[in-house]
Amino acid sequence: MFRVAEETAEDWWEVEALYDLCFAPGRSALSSYRLREGVDPVPALCLTARDGDGILAAAIRYWPVLVGDAPALLLGPVAVHPTRQGEGLGALLIRDSLERARLLGFGRVMLVGDAPYYGRFGFEKLEGVEMPPPTNPDRVLGIALVPGAWDGVAGPVTRAAEG
Ligand SMILES: CC(C)(COP(=O)(O)OP(=O)(O)OC[C@H]1O[C@@H](n2cnc3c(N)ncnc32)[C@H](O)[C@@H]1OP(=O)(O)O)[C@@H](O)C(=O)NCCC(=O)NCCS
Repeated sequence: MFRVAEETAEDWWEVEALYDLCFAPGRSALSSYRLREGVDPVPALCLTARDGDGILAAAIRYWPVLVGDAPALLLGPVAVHPTRQGEGLGALLIRDSLERARLLGFGRVMLVGDAPYYGRFGFEKLEGVEMPPPTNPDRVLGIALVPGAWDGVAGPVTRAAEG
């Protein structure tokens, strides 16, 4: 019923509109957005889900970041249209994109979000990984796509190189 595909350049503003609908106004003031400024997302991991009529139902994007000196992926934003929430679409995009990331050789993924939701995918609180303030440290979560990928990785989260 839903078709998952890599986001294209033509999708960009439609995805932005979905994010505007799903998040509180001022979402771009969040500290996670400072990490995305001037940095391209990872195209192979930015996905859309469209229904049989081609209507955008959900989207997910990923950005490269650094944790200390170590490269990592920042998952998000992920959003599901309000009329489609609770049907498993968020889970579908998160699982699909994490599997794509694993196959592409990425080792570690982090996000800022609700542990009760992301815990089901294997995300756990990251100790010593510091998002720019103001971020509740309990919401800084990570998953190792390669066993042990987060071992010894800590420090401030900063922007990856521009481009
Ligand atoms: C959060 C979001 C991506 C989840 O996608 P979804 O397709 O609605 O959710 P799924 O169908 O995959 O999962 C539904 C389950 O997650 C739970 N859930 C959804 N959001 C949750 C949250 N913030 N905290 C805890 N549980 C949550 C639901 O209660 C439901 O639980 P159940 O399986 O026990 O019934 C989506 O609801 C959304 O876009 N919300 C608004 C934007 C947002 O908050 N994005 C995430 C930023 S961290």
